[in-house]
Amino acid sequence: MSKFPEYKHDKSKEWFDRALAAIPSGVYGHLGPSEGLFLPITKWPLLGDRAEGTYFWDVDGNKYIDYMCAYGPNVLGYNDKDVDAAAAAQRKLGDCTTTPSYKMVECAEKLKDVVDIADWAFFMKNGNDATTFSVMCARAHTGKKKMILFRGYYHGASQWTQKADYPGVLPEEVANNIVVPWFDIQALQEAYDSCNGDIAGLIAQPYDHGNFFDNVTATKEQWAAVRKWCDKHGVVLIIDDVRCGFRLDLAGSDHYYGFKADLICFCKALANGYNMSAVCGQEHMKNAASSVTFTGSYWMSAVPFAACIACLDKLEKINAPALFKEKGTKLTEGLIAAGKRHGFDLIASGEPALFYLRIANDDSLMLHQEWVAECVSRGVFITSHHNHFINAALTDEDINLTIEIAEDAFSVVAERHPDLGLTK
Ligand SMILES: Cc1ncc(COP(=O)(O)O)c(C=O)c1O
Repeated sequence: MSKFPEYKHDKSKEWFDRALAAIPSGVYGHLGPSEGLFLPITKWPLLGDRAEGTYFWDVDGNKYIDYMCAYGPNVLGYNDKDVDAAAAAQRKLGDCTTTPSYKMVECAEKLKDVVDIADWAFFMKNGNDATTFSVMCARAHTGKKKMILFRGYYHGASQWTQKADYPGVLPEEVANNIVVPWFDIQALQEAYDSCNGDIAGLIAQPYDHGNFFDNVTATKEQWAAVRKWCDKHGVVLIIDDVRCGFRLDLAGSDHYYGFKADLICFCKALANGYNMSAVCGQEHMKNAASSVTFTGSYWMSAVPFAACIACLDKLEKINAPALFKEKGTKLTEGLIAAGKRHGFDLIASGEPALFYLRIANDDSLMLHQEWVAECVSRGVFITSHHNHFINAALTDEDINLTIEIAEDAFSVVAERHPDLGLTK
């Protein structure tokens, strides 16, 4: 018997119907149900009302302990008072103005201080802007054409990051991408030889944190081999730290894995939800970055820069990566043990700060989806096919309650499937 009452989502459904009438897909992209990440859909909130700390409330007033953290931007806790105060003070002075505020310079200087490889920083708005700019820099720097990507990559939603058969994408827009298996030096060499060395750069996440499979962390040796290969061939090494950035290591995830990228892309955790992204680079990439035509209406807005400085200050003060590792480990160990008590083999993979979950009792992911949905409908917001995120506002009490609710959800699923013989 479940100890936690199931949430109702009547208002959420009403709002979603209104959304469908006014917006293609209703709620589109990864925040909505159209990508198939929310199954069964009846158990999920689709529209929210407010958020605070590690929680958000949906339009029906249901409260969630949120392990998606807005898919990353919530790194200190929603509405962090220090970041919000810095942003509010800057808002009084000006935000989107004709000349950029000096805050932009301070923000670049802060990134130079914090990020290991950063000799400079360049700002934009989304992760996709940062990866696209980096690819342009690699081409401008080398005068070469093709890019190497590691299998299962996600670098945003621009045409070049999509696949040839996706709606609206032309084959020629992805024709210069060469996809190779992770850390396969022989495949890198074959890719290089196949185009007579016409390779501008290699862009990769710090480790394989893809969807629908157990995430695979990297080793220092693997990255050292890739760095060496790039150096040998003059290939620009770009780390897409949009998702992992500042959660593994404030100096950059390349630093965490013991190597130096030429360019590194940041976004999500940069300013605790204020809208900005950044590319940091080594000195030898600075001229190329200057030469690329790249700007946007809101890219030099000052409020996010003020928020970013306050966010990075605080992440340093609390030694956030160590905290995230500790909380992520405690949580995943608790979840695995709770699963075991009900006959479930729950696997946690990836780095603890960005843990990925999968119930391994059946390969189809159906049991896993059911369990995730039962957690969500009792107030633990996780998703079934994407990695999760830890934020600094998450307390031990939140973790303990999460494990209790998750255990309840395990018991519900086990009782629903007597044929599997999971219950004791
Ligand atoms: C690794 C990675 N790169 C790039 C992006 C694209 O960022 P954005 O959605 O801000 O454009 C994401 C977004 O989830 C990401 O996880």
